[in-house]
Amino acid sequence: MSEFVPSARILVVDDQLSHLRALCDILGQHHFDAVGCSTGEAALVQLRSGSFDLLLTDLVMPGIDGLALVEAARALDPYIACIIMTGEGTVDTAVKAMKIGVLDYIVKPFKAATLLPILDRAGESRQLRLQNLQLEAALRDRVEELGWLNTVLDAARKEAERANHEKSNFLSSMSHELRTPLNSILGFAQILSSDKFPKGEGDRQRFAHNIVQSGRHLLTLVNEILDLAKIEAGKVALNMGPVPLDAILRDAYAIVTPLAQARQVVLAPLPETRLVLYADEVRLKQILVNLLSNAVKYNRERGRVSVNCELHNGHGSVVVTDTGVGLSAAQLANIFLPFGRAGRESSDEEGTGLGLTITQRLVEAMRGAIEVESELGVGSTFRIDLPLHDAPAPAAVSQGGHHESIGP
Ligand SMILES: Nc1ncnc2c1ncn2[C@@H]1O[C@H](COP(=O)(O)OP(=O)(O)O)[C@@H](O)[C@H]1O
Ligand SMILES: [Mg+2]
Repeated sequence: MSEFVPSARILVVDDQLSHLRALCDILGQHHFDAVGCSTGEAALVQLRSGSFDLLLTDLVMPGIDGLALVEAARALDPYIACIIMTGEGTVDTAVKAMKIGVLDYIVKPFKAATLLPILDRAGESRQLRLQNLQLEAALRDRVEELGWLNTVLDAARKEAERANHEKSNFLSSMSHELRTPLNSILGFAQILSSDKFPKGEGDRQRFAHNIVQSGRHLLTLVNEILDLAKIEAGKVALNMGPVPLDAILRDAYAIVTPLAQARQVVLAPLPETRLVLYADEVRLKQILVNLLSNAVKYNRERGRVSVNCELHNGHGSVVVTDTGVGLSAAQLANIFLPFGRAGRESSDEEGTGLGLTITQRLVEAMRGAIEVESELGVGSTFRIDLPLHDAPAPAAVSQGGHHESIGP
C-alpha cells in the first residue's frame, strides 16, 4: 500500500495544537505533504486556495466543525478523501458523517500505525475514483465517436442505395430505349422480306427509310450510352489547355448551321470575345454543339438562337438563348437525367435524352457548372461557366469555385 502517491497532499485539522503538530510531523515522515490548521475556518481558506488529496479532520471543534468542513470540502472537490478523527463518545456521529461522504473514521487516541493504513486506503480510493472519472470520460468520447461513425456509415449506405437505385433505373430505361428502334427495324425488315409483301415500290422505299432511320437512332444511342459510361467510370482523359472561345464557337456554329437552316431558325451573329477558357477543346465543342442543337431543335419556326460570352463569378461564361417552346419547372427537373426528354419522347423531334446528361457531366469534370432558366412558350437560356485559362491564383478569387489545376 505504501506505494500510493508518494507525496499525497493532506490537510490536517485539529483544535488541539499539540496533537496537530504531532500528526503533521508523523505524516511528513511518511510520504505525505501535510498542511495543518487548528480551526475549521483556517482549513476552509486552505481548501479554497489549494488542492488536497485528503482531509483528516477532528469532529468536534468550536466554529466550523468536522461535518461542516467535510461538506464544504466535498463541495469544492467531490473526490477529496475525507477521514474524521473522533473521541470514543462521538462514534455515532462519525457513522452519520460517513453518510455525507466521509470515507473512514479513526477513534482518538490512536497510534501512527493505525492511522497510516487508513490514510493509504483513503488515498487509493481517491485515485480509483479519479481513474474511474477518466474512464467514464473516455467511454463517453468513444460512444460519441461511435455515434458519429454510425451517422457516416448510414449516409454512405443511403448513398450506395441511391446510386444502386439510379443504376437500376438507368438500366431499365436503357433497355427500353434500345428495344424500341430495334423492334422497329425487325418489324419493317420482316414485312419487307415477306413473300406476301403486297405494296408497291413507294412503300418499299418508305419501309427501308424507316429501317435506316431506326438504325441511325440506335447507333447514336449506343454511342452516347458508351460515351456516358466512359465519363461516369472516370475513363475520359481530359486534355486540358487554353481554348480561345471565339474560335471554338465558330466551329460549333458551323456544325449546327445546316440543322438551323433546315428548321428555318436564325443563328444570331456571334459576339466578339477574347475570353480564353481552360478546357478540353474537343469536349467543349461537344458541349456547345449539344446546347446549340437543342436550342435549334426545340425552337419554333423562324425562331432565333443567340450566344453571349461574359465573365461570371470569376469564370468564363457561354450563354445560349433561344426563343423556343421553353420548359416548365417539372420539365426542368427531368432534362439532366439520363434519357430524360421532358415529355418529348413521342414528338417528331429525334433525340436520345442523353445530350444534357453528358453535357452536365463534362462541364463538371472540367470544374465548371451548368444552369438553365426557362419560361414555357417564351424560350430557354442555358449557361455554362468554366474556369478561365489565366484565372488568378485561388487565394485571390473569392467567388467559390475550383481553380486548382485540373488533372486529366
Ligand atoms: N433549349 C431547349 N428548349 C426546350 N427544351 C429543351 C431545350 N434543350 C433541351 N430541352 C429538353 O430537354 C430534353 C433533354 O435534352 P437532351 O438531353 O439534349 O436530349 P435530346 O435532345 O436528345 O432529347 C429534350 O428532350 C428537351 O425536351
Ligand atoms: Mg439534345
